[in-house]
Amino acid sequence: MRVAVIGTGYVGLVTGVVLADLGNQVLCIENDPEKLAKLRAAEAPSFEPGIEELLKRTIADGSLRVSDSVAEAAKFADVLFIAVGTPSRPDGSVDLSAVHAVAEEIGKNLTHDLLVVNKSTAPVGTVREIGRIIERSSIGRKAVVASNPEFLREGNALQDTREPDRIVIGADDRASVAALEELYSPLNKPILFTSPESAEMIKYACNAFLATKISYINAISRVCELCGADVAHVAKGMGMDRRIGPDFLKAGLGYGGSCLPKDVAGFIDFAGRMGYDFQMLHAVKGVNEAQASHFLQRIEKELGGLEGKTICVLGLAFKPETDDMRAAKSLEVIDFLLARGAAVRVHDPAAMHVVEPQYPQIEFAESPYCAAEGADAAILVTEWNAYKNMDFDRFGAKMCSKVFFDGRRACSQQALERAGFRYFTIGS
Ligand code: UGA
Repeated sequence: MRVAVIGTGYVGLVTGVVLADLGNQVLCIENDPEKLAKLRAAEAPSFEPGIEELLKRTIADGSLRVSDSVAEAAKFADVLFIAVGTPSRPDGSVDLSAVHAVAEEIGKNLTHDLLVVNKSTAPVGTVREIGRIIERSSIGRKAVVASNPEFLREGNALQDTREPDRIVIGADDRASVAALEELYSPLNKPILFTSPESAEMIKYACNAFLATKISYINAISRVCELCGADVAHVAKGMGMDRRIGPDFLKAGLGYGGSCLPKDVAGFIDFAGRMGYDFQMLHAVKGVNEAQASHFLQRIEKELGGLEGKTICVLGLAFKPETDDMRAAKSLEVIDFLLARGAAVRVHDPAAMHVVEPQYPQIEFAESPYCAAEGADAAILVTEWNAYKNMDFDRFGAKMCSKVFFDGRRACSQQALERAGFRYFTIGS
């Protein structure tokens, strides 16, 4: 099948390479000249395990091409995916201008029956609006428009796309999206057909629920600290109940990234516009915003102030296996430390190049051991495997004082204490 994907962010690029790998002819559209040049050279514009290899292979065998022309995509494709950004405005509402601009361009270039599938996370009603824009700009021609939300996680994007728990397709009638069903048939996964409205809502309801689970366990972690319970044991005991499940119950510095914070804010805004004040999600957001600053205050107290201290920060990216720094908790940590007069030395296996231009005053070390040099304490912010499996004797030998604050409950307390560290973590 001939497939076009507009936008080569995480969702668009992964969709493109996976569908090309499944034997389709795929055209990916990117309007950022720098990203486009990289893609043309078969280089992945962002760090994501496995993507570059697949990109190289599908470009080399001719199944994937890149271009900057939405017009070309509209003329070429049987199925066209919209996967452009839907960023937050300062008030939390969702900026749909990129989606609308693409819809207009599709309309202007509509030459045949085209199935337009929206994958960008967007409030309920967006699919119908895309349909109206296409109809208006094509002077009466209609395209079938469907919603097909994406549930992949950064750092795990290829596997999530090839082996999704389910595929959600929102359309007015199943027959009109038969091409999409056929496209996904090689994955052999359950497909849920709903209305466009319900499909759009499923995406927000999922991300808001995942954020709720995280904020719930983080709120529990605060109570654990006050009463002597251990949140890791509490989460384990909760997760063994099949009605609750063990996933997304890891207490830490809170959720970051380009999706959960943005989508919680977008959902609160959307619900408000519909006439419902989503107080529960306000609380979820509030717990998340307080989590890192609470741990930082504990650190400051434990160290007797931060002025003149050297702090080693392990991990910058918002989660492991990515170089994505959007809404990363490390930024909050670094800003706090600098504001209190500490010197900061950081390490991250993938994201240092993204952060370096913004922070000329901090030191970027080439290994965690170099980052520990002369430090009064270490704070683990992102749970990369490289930190979990460190040689803590070697790490501690570099430091002035062996104090370890584990912001993700990632390292073994026993191993650190054996190496002579004082160990502090969230929720115990
Ligand atoms: C999230 C969802 O998990 C995906 O299903 C969804 O497709 C995606 O948003 C999206 O809308 O595009 P992602 O942001 O890539 O995926 O990463 P997650 O694995 O969900 O992690 C988000 C944040 O939550 C990270 O900062 C992580 O450290 C934190 N987290 C996650 C916790 O603090 N505790 C947990 O138990 C799990």
